[in-house]
Amino acid sequence: MTFLLVVVAAAVSSVHSFEVTKDAAKEASAARWLTTQSTWGTLTTRPEKAFFGQDGDVETNDLLAVVLPFAADETNEGRIFFYLMGETHLHDSSLTLSQAALNTELLAVPGCGTPESAVDPQDPRCIKLTIAGSIHPCTATHDVGPNCEDIGWKALLEKHPTMAYWPVNHDFRVHEFVVQDSLWMIGNFGGASVLSPDEYRQAKAAEHVIAGGEAVTPTTIPAADKIVPKWNNFATRARWITHHSKWSTIATVAAASNAAETTSSSSVFGNIRSIADGVDLSTSTGRPLFYLPDADALAVNMKANDNHIVISLSEASLAERVSEGRPCGGQELPLCAQVALYGKAVPVEFNRDIATQFQHTHPLASWMAEGGSHMSGSYYTLDISKVVILDYFGGFHEVGVDDYLNTNLSSMLESGVSQTTMNPPSWFSGHLIVWMMAGFLLGWLVSRYSGIHSTTGAQYRTVPDATKTSETMEMEVDAEA
Ligand SMILES: *[C@@H]1O[C@H](CO)[C@@H](O)[C@H](O)[C@H]1NC(C)=O
Repeated sequence: MTFLLVVVAAAVSSVHSFEVTKDAAKEASAARWLTTQSTWGTLTTRPEKAFFGQDGDVETNDLLAVVLPFAADETNEGRIFFYLMGETHLHDSSLTLSQAALNTELLAVPGCGTPESAVDPQDPRCIKLTIAGSIHPCTATHDVGPNCEDIGWKALLEKHPTMAYWPVNHDFRVHEFVVQDSLWMIGNFGGASVLSPDEYRQAKAAEHVIAGGEAVTPTTIPAADKIVPKWNNFATRARWITHHSKWSTIATVAAASNAAETTSSSSVFGNIRSIADGVDLSTSTGRPLFYLPDADALAVNMKANDNHIVISLSEASLAERVSEGRPCGGQELPLCAQVALYGKAVPVEFNRDIATQFQHTHPLASWMAEGGSHMSGSYYTLDISKVVILDYFGGFHEVGVDDYLNTNLSSMLESGVSQTTMNPPSWFSGHLIVWMMAGFLLGWLVSRYSGIHSTTGAQYRTVPDATKTSETMEMEVDAEA
């Protein structure tokens, strides 16, 4: 009897101490593991001039979110590199990563971890990491680390071999994301960890194994769901991405007084949230629902920012776009569309409809279908003020909010997307940039696939189209692929 009591007491105290004092070295190793394993993340920033052809959103204090490929070099202190056009300086930026992006066979569930032990992307055990810092081109030698160009290019090529074929005339250059401020991370129960840049640099990557998750069977996506709306059908494509997205980065401007809650001096902050937009195409509204505890750093900052947020969504997180285990049809991010929804978060009362949506879209997070977690919090949706979509290497394209909201995806259920044609947008005809993009893409695809076509299987095809140009790309999925 005495023996039993001792065991119970020991177990209780060890759980308790684990939750209160996290092992900082272990947390830093997990952060290093996530950055070095990841191939893409959401960069949230407040640029001084247009970035990717997108101006910051005025309502959100010029907040801007872009999903970008990157590479972190484990052998060089986890230094982080981007391949961006021109010479870009971005201060006050944050890079947000989710462990749920790593295992593409679990994207459909959605699950984070392994099929043997998976949790929902919003589960505290699935790492959510936001790194604060600034981006500079390697040419700005005083702002970046030593041998930036050599180390950065090598790291980028290792993660993204196709970058070697990105066209020189687009002036892509290696940039370093300099980790300047604290790293904010949730990877376990017991709240967020804040790591110093030094703790991150000195850590050694160690896999973050998810304990106590559920065993899941990876789902097979029906062929019809893999059909992607045409790239120039902007509103439909954007809605399709929103509907299929199971999680996203939600970001806001960090209030100076709340800086300690997030990362020391950065002015933007993002966190990963599980989202739901209807149970199927016919019930999609285009306005994602999410749950946020009041104590969450995102909630605190969002409230200080009049609830202005940006929800960024990427096809890189969609099971519908996975091909042979690789995201975006294995085609790298530039050919994978992304959407940013700007607006105000509005609290919504939990009801049966919300429960049904989360039950359907987040089977591993039963608490989200039951009114939330034990902490006080709220469900929110977005009062949308601006929708932008980015596809290809060109800039963002603004989608009319009404077009976006009034699109009904039901027609895709019967006829398939290839039937949902629309007139080419007026800017298309004769727009020099568009012609350049089309030509460039064709060249890029040819160089990308000419050697390995037979082994990878093409996801896209070039379709001669007399109404546009003989070299226009059509974003249609090959039936065989
Ligand atoms: C879309 O249209 C279908 C068929 O007309 C309808 O049943 C459905 O309710 C509509 N969806 C929305 C979200 O309005």
